Amino acid sequence: MDVPHIPVLLNETVNLYKDMKNGYFVDCTLGFGGHSEAILEKYPQVKLIGIDQDKDAMEFAKKRLSKYADRVEFINKRASEALKELNGLPISGILADIGVSSYQLDNPERGFTFDSGTLDMRMNKEQSFSAKEVVNFYSREDLERILKDYAEERRYKKIADFIIKNRPIVSNKELSEVLMKAGLKNNKDLAPVFQAIRIEVNNELKELENILDASEKIASEGTILGIITFHSLEDRIVKNRFKEWAKKCICPPEAMRCECGGNNQKGKILTKKPITATKEEIKKNPRSRSAKLRGFMFTK
Ligand SMILES: C[S@@+](CC[C@H](N)C(=O)[O-])C[C@H]1O[C@@H](n2cnc3c(N)ncnc32)[C@H](O)[C@@H]1O
Repeated sequence: MDVPHIPVLLNETVNLYKDMKNGYFVDCTLGFGGHSEAILEKYPQVKLIGIDQDKDAMEFAKKRLSKYADRVEFINKRASEALKELNGLPISGILADIGVSSYQLDNPERGFTFDSGTLDMRMNKEQSFSAKEVVNFYSREDLERILKDYAEERRYKKIADFIIKNRPIVSNKELSEVLMKAGLKNNKDLAPVFQAIRIEVNNELKELENILDASEKIASEGTILGIITFHSLEDRIVKNRFKEWAKKCICPPEAMRCECGGNNQKGKILTKKPITATKEEIKKNPRSRSAKLRGFMFTK
C-alpha cells in the first residue's frame, strides 16, 4: 500500500504510551493511520477510536487498519467535537498530531501547494470558509495580524498591502506571485505565510485549545495525552497548558499564602522538554524538522 504520509516521531510517540492501561486509545488526527497502526500493534490491550475531519484520509486509514477491524472505530468530525462524545468511556490514551498531512499538502486539488490553481486550504472540504475569504475579504488589520502573529513575518505591513492591492486573488499560484512582488524570494519565504493562512482557515489554534479542554474532561487516572505540533505558537499552548495542569497550587500570584489546598495537580508532565526529530529522521522526512512532541499523564 503506497502511503501518502510518513508519520513523524513514530517510535517516540509509541513509547510515550508505554505505561498505558486497558481501554480506548483516541487518535484525534488519524490521517493515514501511521501512528494508529503502530499503537494497535504495540498495545494489544487497547481499542482505537480514529478521528479525522478529512473524509479522504479516513477512507485510506480504514483500509490500512482493516486487519484490526474488530478493535477500531472511526469518527469523521472535528476532534474537539468528537471528543465530547466519548465522555464516560475508559480512555487510556489520546494523541493529536496537529496540522495537515503530506497528502493534503502535496495534492494540488486541495489548494495547499504554492502553485495550486485553487485557493482553498480547508482540511475539511465541507467547511465553507476557505483561504479565498481570508485572502480576498479580510481587513488590513486582520491580514496584518495573521502575518505578524502566525507567520512571524516582519514585512507584514507591506505584504498585507500587496495582497489588498492585487485583489481579487483566485489561486495559490497568483498569491505566490503577489507575495514575490512584495519581496518574498523563495518557497522558504512563502511557507510561513501559507502556513499562517492555513492556521486561520482551519482555526487551528482555537481547535488545539478545544482539544486540550475536551481531553481534560474525558481523561481519568492514568490517561496519557500526547500532542505533536509544528508551530511555535501551538507548542507554547501545549507547554503552558501542561504546566498549568501540573500545578499543585492554583492560588493567584498575589496571595500571601496558599488557600487552595495545594492539591490541584491534575497529573504529571512526561516530557520535561519537547521531543524532536533526530537528524536521521529529518533527512528521511524533512517535514519532521519542526515537529515537537509533549506528553502528560493524568493522575486524577
Ligand atoms: C499530520 S496529519 C496526521 C497523520 C497521522 N498521524 C498519520 O500517521 O498518518 C493530520 C491529520 O489530522 C487531521 N486533523 C487535523 N486537525 C484536526 C482536527 N482538529 N480534527 C480532526 N482532524 C484533524 C487532518 O485532516 C489530517 O488528516
